[in-house]
Amino acid sequence: MSPPRRRNTTAVAVAATLIATVFALPARAHQPALWPWPQQIYISGNTVPVDAAKFEVECEIDNPCPTKFQNELQYYADLVRHSCSNSVYPKANNNDGDDEASSSSSSSSSWDQDGQKIDSCVVKLATSDDALAIDSNQTFRLTVSSDPYPNCLVEADNMYGAYYGLVTLSQLCDTSNTTAPSILEARIRDEPRFAFRGFLLDTARHFLPVSYIKRVLDVLALHRYNVLHWHVVDSESFPLQSQAFPDLAEKGAFSPDAVYKTEDLVDVVQYASRRGITVMPEFDVPGHGSWGKGYPSLMGCKDVLDPTNPEVYTFLLTFLKEMLEIFPSEYIFLGGDEVDTSCWLKNPEIAEWLQQHDMTDAELFDYFWQNVTSEVIPGLEGRKVGVWQSNKLDIKPTLLPEGSFGNVWQDPKMMGPVIDGGMPVVLSGTYYLDQDNSATAAGPCKAYAWQQTWKCMYQEEPFDQLTQEQWSSLIGLETTMWGEGVNRFDFEARVWAKAAAVAERMWSNQNVNDVAEAQVRLDRHICRLNLMGVHAGPIIPGFCSSDVDGEAW
Ligand SMILES: *[C@@H]1O[C@H](CO)[C@@H](O)[C@H](O)[C@H]1NC(C)=O
Ligand SMILES: *[C@@H]1O[C@H](CO)[C@@H](O)[C@H](O)[C@H]1NC(C)=O
Ligand SMILES: *[C@@H]1O[C@H](CO)[C@@H](O)[C@H](O)[C@H]1NC(C)=O
Repeated sequence: MSPPRRRNTTAVAVAATLIATVFALPARAHQPALWPWPQQIYISGNTVPVDAAKFEVECEIDNPCPTKFQNELQYYADLVRHSCSNSVYPKANNNDGDDEASSSSSSSSSWDQDGQKIDSCVVKLATSDDALAIDSNQTFRLTVSSDPYPNCLVEADNMYGAYYGLVTLSQLCDTSNTTAPSILEARIRDEPRFAFRGFLLDTARHFLPVSYIKRVLDVLALHRYNVLHWHVVDSESFPLQSQAFPDLAEKGAFSPDAVYKTEDLVDVVQYASRRGITVMPEFDVPGHGSWGKGYPSLMGCKDVLDPTNPEVYTFLLTFLKEMLEIFPSEYIFLGGDEVDTSCWLKNPEIAEWLQQHDMTDAELFDYFWQNVTSEVIPGLEGRKVGVWQSNKLDIKPTLLPEGSFGNVWQDPKMMGPVIDGGMPVVLSGTYYLDQDNSATAAGPCKAYAWQQTWKCMYQEEPFDQLTQEQWSSLIGLETTMWGEGVNRFDFEARVWAKAAAVAERMWSNQNVNDVAEAQVRLDRHICRLNLMGVHAGPIIPGFCSSDVDGEAW
């Protein structure tokens, strides 16, 4: 039988403001495998019995809850139901953990006698605004308490913060006693360290079906990634339909079946938004392009546009205007990556134009960006721009409008010069998921074994490369899954655990950086992912119940 549900949440909220802040992990064998680790947490050591099969998530009765959030309540409840029914810890009758299991069940036995189990969590939102923004308020508070009777409350500014609170709740399940699952009594206050937590998905080197992208989004959201940097096209293929320029996909895709139709793009954007993820599309110009397969006159050489051709700018404006109808992201990523400007010199018409204009090929690159800024970006309804920056200032920050950001992909030491040049920065260079090592500022961090690589990434502290004045200009981090050697058959094993390691760097306090401690939690977190059917690779020898009875997804 359920206790009366307490909807007056004021007392809990007040109590939550009084809690002690602890950064240290509790001394408990079954410490919660929270991932990422919260900014503030208090754990009493008690557990509250849970009715996993009946668990529900509900909005507080007097508070506004947007329909978009209500539509997800069952999804959130299922997360908790699943986590509270599947143990990431060895069973209590194993040698390991016997003591803790019995002590936690004894601490909660009075609730068992009363038949009082926690069977719901109430969500209280400060605003019913369901608009998604990268820097929206993602703060949440989570309270699980047995006093005066089992109750659970998630308080957040908006639905996206509440989602993170509910994922955290699911990670507090303790199923070490399989016959009597419980939730750890806890008070947590959490907020992200970085507003921009990106993941690059490359669908140009290998196509990924929409259903697979949705699966990727689900798992990213569990790790609080909030930007999908969709590297949708590149020199190899153009798998994206444009109504204005149909030949881009018709002539540029690997196969007619490997094309994201307009409705597919909208579908991905909407699905991502439900999970709190903004889809930032990338159309890399002037290089890394397969525009020429459909529209050869745009190209100056093999995969580089012709900056001397005025049509290039009208084309880009029309194309990008179509795309911004589909992608509401505040940023459009325009690349600027790895342009071999000398290739322009091999085109006799461009070479002659350069001579007439007394310009070098390097100056033509700047000319391209000047014209993009004057001719194209003003037509993009205030969207901001992202570009790559390598180990030099490829694109002079003064050539782009204010608010543009640089993604530093090669040498983390370049963050400082890019920031000093006037551009906020996202760092991806040390977090390349397709590599078995990490190019850190201190030099390459190379692990002998593939499963150790996460440690290189976990330990790479971005602030170490910056002066304190520059810190606030580092808006986020990004892991990149370049797709040359990855399709949907090996994707998850490549991505997880490494992208999880970086997710903690993106979200948690800077001082959460103890690799030995993290390894214990990450190992159990990987088990949790495996129990959900995610093909994440283990990081150390050990056992997960998915090894014997896990369901394949
Ligand atoms: C598990 O919980 C049940 C019900 O509270 C209890 O009877 C049993 O002793 C517990 N098992 C262990 C191993 O603690
Ligand atoms: C975020 O939202 C919480 C809850 O509504 C509020 O207390 C806090 O002040 C907000 N933070 C910012 C930076 O607006
Ligand atoms: C590019 O910029 C130059 C210099 O600002 C200008 O003269 C030229 O008309 C622009 N070209 C196009 C196609 O916009």
